[in-house]
Amino acid sequence: MPKNYLEAAVDIAREAGKILREELDRPADITYKGDVDLVTQADRRSEETIVRQLRKYFPEHAIAAEEGTGHENASEYCWHVDPLDGTTNFAHGYPCFCVSIALTQRGEVLAGVIYNPIYEELYAAARGEGATLNGKKISVSKVDRLETSLLCTGFPVHKRLANPNIHYYWDFTLRSHGVRRDGSAALDLACVAAGRFDGFWEFGLKKWDTAAGVLLVEEAGGKVSDFAGEPYALGGPVILATNGLIHEEMRSIALEISKRDPAAPLKR
Ligand code: IPD
Ligand code: CA
Ligand code: CA
Repeated sequence: MPKNYLEAAVDIAREAGKILREELDRPADITYKGDVDLVTQADRRSEETIVRQLRKYFPEHAIAAEEGTGHENASEYCWHVDPLDGTTNFAHGYPCFCVSIALTQRGEVLAGVIYNPIYEELYAAARGEGATLNGKKISVSKVDRLETSLLCTGFPVHKRLANPNIHYYWDFTLRSHGVRRDGSAALDLACVAAGRFDGFWEFGLKKWDTAAGVLLVEEAGGKVSDFAGEPYALGGPVILATNGLIHEEMRSIALEISKRDPAAPLKR
């Protein structure tokens, strides 16, 4: 039996990551949840393992899992599970995807793990105890001007036409060293925590996309909010996560863009 929440999440993420590695070698078995919202056997197998193990170790806890096999109850503890973040990448054999698992207590993230099984990079954080990558402490970057920053963002796989992000993407691209779009929000956040990216924003992410990553960024010394500067609530319409030093600069530019509408942060 794993000793604590974080250790349990680490063991389970590694087990699920092994499944993703195995599945990557098989022909992709793709079905569609929406227009371009893909789901594969890998998503389902990974989730099955994660939920089974969480239920074994923490039978009283609730589980919110993306593919719908979680476990609802009235517990103040809830695990947020993205069994495969970056499904589109996975389905095309582009090796940028991960498992993301986080535990919340009354909505506050206590522990989070993000595991990239291809690079064998495991990011972990527990509230108040810092963030690590493969066991070594990580911290956000020291880049203090947007002009010299490297950013990342993502675009949703549903209601694509209603998403305003292309306007923000264009603007931030011209004002920075560039904006990467790598297709895994959890890894984007982990990379901000590790100081590889200096800032990240996205619209319409779900709790399982961001729960672990938000804790990683905060524990690595970064800042997370919405565009109005209010604390980011898991599942909120927009997230801005940075190294802290470029936060206000990014936020004021995002606000400027939203004044020209770009879907005025999804009408709040
Ligand atoms: C997606 C990825 C992507 C983000 C999408 C998410 P999924 O998650 O995190 O980077 O832009 O909004 O839905 O579907 O691969 O788990
Ligand atoms: Ca996801
Ligand atoms: Ca997913």
